[in-house]
Amino acid sequence: MSNGIDIRASLPTDREALEVLYPAAFPDEDLIPLLRALLDEEDGVFSFVAISDGKLVGHIALTMCGIAGRSEKVGLLGPLAVSPHFQRQGIGGALIQEGLDHLKSEGATQAHVLGDPAYYGRFGFEPDSNVSPPYDLPQEWKTAWQSISLHGVKPDFDGTLSVPKPWRQPTLWAP
Ligand SMILES: CC(C)(COP(=O)(O)OP(=O)(O)OC[C@H]1O[C@@H](n2cnc3c(N)ncnc32)[C@H](O)[C@@H]1OP(=O)(O)O)[C@@H](O)C(=O)NCCC(=O)NCCS
Repeated sequence: MSNGIDIRASLPTDREALEVLYPAAFPDEDLIPLLRALLDEEDGVFSFVAISDGKLVGHIALTMCGIAGRSEKVGLLGPLAVSPHFQRQGIGGALIQEGLDHLKSEGATQAHVLGDPAYYGRFGFEPDSNVSPPYDLPQEWKTAWQSISLHGVKPDFDGTLSVPKPWRQPTLWAP
């Protein structure tokens, strides 16, 4: 990035800093078990970090998923965290862009996220009612389930997202 922030694939040696970043970015939520489970996955999880002056200041994970009964590959974005002192400098956006580019290069047709539409809408995500998340969402979260096409055209398929083990926890999909 032009402001001296580098984005690169995460390394095993980043673990300690990641376990400091997440509680700082999410003081009310414990995402460490999900983070560890994702980083321990051998295939289909991509992880990028943002580095400023040698310090890890942001992270994104992306998981390759399927649609039950179909052959398309789609990505699931998250979690995403930027160190509180480094927010509002474009780091979150740069991590999202890196992640989407990588998913596209891996053959994903679209990417999904469960997150604040006011934030993800900035990057082109739109509420998705075609592909369902793996667990029913509470009504107030329905618009938080969003997707973005990675090939410019909105895919015309529907179905249910099939996720690998780290995401098969109902508590990740409910308040
Ligand atoms: C959300 C988060 C990743 C954004 O990272 P960031 O590096 O600050 O993002 P960017 O710099 O690319 O974008 C910042 C812009 O998004 C806005 N923004 C941040 N969170 C937002 C939200 N929830 N809703 C709407 N806008 C939001 C900021 O106000 C800022 O806009 P502005 O510059 O016009 O004022 C970061 O705030 C964070 O880690 N928050 C805590 C963890 C979290 O909520 N993660 C997302 C999980 S779904």
